[in-house]
Amino acid sequence: MTTFAIIGAGRNLGEALARRFGREGLSIALISRSQERVDALAADLVADGLTARGYAANVRDPESLVTALDRASQELGPIEVLSYNPLPQKEFLRPLLESTVGDIRAAVEFSVYGPVAAVHQVLQGMRFLGRGSILFVNGGSAVQPVQHFAGTSIGFAGETAYAEMLSQALQDEPIHVGQLIIPGAIIPGDEQKDPQVLADTLWRMHAERGAFRVFATDLEVQPY
Ligand SMILES: NC(=O)c1ccc[n+]([C@@H]2O[C@H](COP(=O)([O-])OP(=O)(O)OC[C@H]3O[C@@H](n4cnc5c(N)ncnc54)[C@H](OP(=O)(O)O)[C@@H]3O)[C@@H](O)[C@H]2O)c1
Repeated sequence: MTTFAIIGAGRNLGEALARRFGREGLSIALISRSQERVDALAADLVADGLTARGYAANVRDPESLVTALDRASQELGPIEVLSYNPLPQKEFLRPLLESTVGDIRAAVEFSVYGPVAAVHQVLQGMRFLGRGSILFVNGGSAVQPVQHFAGTSIGFAGETAYAEMLSQALQDEPIHVGQLIIPGAIIPGDEQKDPQVLADTLWRMHAERGAFRVFATDLEVQPY
């Protein structure tokens, strides 16, 4: 069995992703800061017949992230798919002129250093396996900076550049790199932005290995 590692495994998109990829036979490694919450989610998934385990890590602490991914591959099987989708903290969503150096630094740690640490940890295993996918999930500010959300706009811009360069660097290898952009909010029941619809989209990105960037909906013009 190979493993799908979800970095940012909460009850919204995280759970929908876990169920979608779990249904396809992958083991699920659930990673977020709270061991209690990922354990509770893992228990629900296991009760429904899936293979899942929770690992606590903070994406702003690369060592904890590397340790979680290492344990997951040892306990559940080699990581075939990685999704980087932690929910940004509220201090990353402040207006530009109210954002301090600390706010921006935290957003860059979250959106750039975290992905770099995670990818370095899983890449050799995917090469050994001979296949893999690395998926990034971002809001619209990843491709259209919005001064109201300064931290995420700056952090996501770095993450977008990193992901796009990673896609270039791995173009001759059997490892797909993709980025899903979700403009606006995730909306339960919505035709395009329900968590299960988004999870289906991410499954297709992994299975079909098409374009690098996929939009959940057209990019909205954000109010200023
Ligand atoms: N929610 C939306 O409306 C929306 C809109 C556009 C784009 N998106 C994107 O969709 C993705 C998922 O969002 P979601 O709301 O559906 O999330 P979710 O699946 O409910 O959970 C995301 C999880 O990220 C974890 N997290 C936050 N900070 C973390 C950190 N520093 N280290 C490790 N884990 C951390 C949180 O768990 P802990 O608190 O336990 O760490 C949270 O449960 C994100 O990439 C987000 O940018 C969401």
